[in-house]
Amino acid sequence: MQLRPGEPDLPLKSSLTIASLTLSSFRNYDSARIEPSGGLIALCGHNGAGKTNLLEAISLLTPGRGLRGAAFDDLVRTGQDRGWAVAALLDGPVGEVRLGTSWQGGGDGEPVSGNSREVRVDGQVQRSAGALAEHVRALWVTPAMDRLFAGPASDRRRFLDRLTATFDPSHGTRVNALDRLLRERNRLNSEEHFEARWLGSVEAQLAQTAVAVAAARNDAIAAVRSFITNTRARDSERLFPWAEVIVDGELEQQLIDRPAVQIEDEYRTLLLDSRGLDRAAGRTLRGPHRADLLVSHGPRQMEARLCSTGEQKALLIGLVLAQARAVRETFGGVAPLLLLDEVAAHLDGVRRAALMDELLELGSQAWMTGTDRQLFEAASSCTEIYEVADGQITPVGPEQETA
Ligand SMILES: Nc1ncnc2c1ncn2[C@@H]1O[C@H](COP(=O)(O)OP(=O)(O)OP(=O)(O)O)[C@@H](O)[C@H]1O
Ligand SMILES: [Mg+2]
Repeated sequence: MQLRPGEPDLPLKSSLTIASLTLSSFRNYDSARIEPSGGLIALCGHNGAGKTNLLEAISLLTPGRGLRGAAFDDLVRTGQDRGWAVAALLDGPVGEVRLGTSWQGGGDGEPVSGNSREVRVDGQVQRSAGALAEHVRALWVTPAMDRLFAGPASDRRRFLDRLTATFDPSHGTRVNALDRLLRERNRLNSEEHFEARWLGSVEAQLAQTAVAVAAARNDAIAAVRSFITNTRARDSERLFPWAEVIVDGELEQQLIDRPAVQIEDEYRTLLLDSRGLDRAAGRTLRGPHRADLLVSHGPRQMEARLCSTGEQKALLIGLVLAQARAVRETFGGVAPLLLLDEVAAHLDGVRRAALMDELLELGSQAWMTGTDRQLFEAASSCTEIYEVADGQITPVGPEQETA
């Protein structure tokens, strides 16, 4: 939670909500605006209406490439050449904050601004998108994550790093630095006549960054684990089972019982000693960029990847809810935003009702999507329902809800 200097005595609100969101030339939206007042928001509409696009726009209020990991030029509404913009009025612990992010594509013959987007906080351009992490914490569950436990380790590593970044806003910058240093080392190491001193200096920075990445991951997972341990007895754990989570990484494991400086020295020596092997492989074979997140179904003591589709979904939701509670506890009772894409449709009625109860208890502003409005009607007294169609977002009044 960021406190503005000079305002230490402001009464802090214990919620974080988007009071208004505006999309311009973003995906299938030309210009659209939504001003929710509620904590639970349901976006309903047919396939291809723009529901996930809206969640994606919200996810861009955090550092990174959003919930689809898309390239910024893909986000520009087809046929437009003026780039896209997302703006939000945030109502958070320190009051209202205006956030804006945009990307300008180049017109004919003009250079494009490439991979970087512009980020503004209260109208001030920020040096990097990392500044968003001070204001918005958002967690998401998307259909693409259905394969999180059974798919490649790289997806779980990304999940782990996003989870870590919700606790430590500088983690994203650290992970980017790790990637950059690895690329630099691989490039230098592949040269026939590499400059040993230069390579040595890159490896020293790499070792330092690698240990920082691993330590931050350990801290975040420890926070989530302790939360899971303390709340295992909740009733809803039957429906969204608790997860056993372990970072399966060489450095992460070493850091559990040995000092960071020692691990850093040892990793630097390992990099030096394995230059030949790594050159032959064309990459750096060991380090935190190879770590995995091991998840098991707690009550069943079963590896998540071996669980049924439904069990994996429930486990993922349980894990994200535990993470949300841990974030809330860590940051002065302020729950993160939750983006739940097509989650309701995959749950039976009992689990759907339990999820709504969990979300209400959590106090998060939760943005949910579904093709079928009926999915949310049971909870319509506490859910604000919107119809999404043709790039327009329309609130559904109570009289229409029952129609
Ligand atoms: N850059 C773009 N410009 C214009 N339209 C786009 C762009 N990118 C994606 N779209 C379109 O936006 C539409 C809405 O996509 P979105 O994923 O939000 O649908 P949805 O409502 O989530 O549908 P579903 O229920 O199938 O998940 C799709 O038809 C998609 O092809
Ligand atoms: Mg969708």
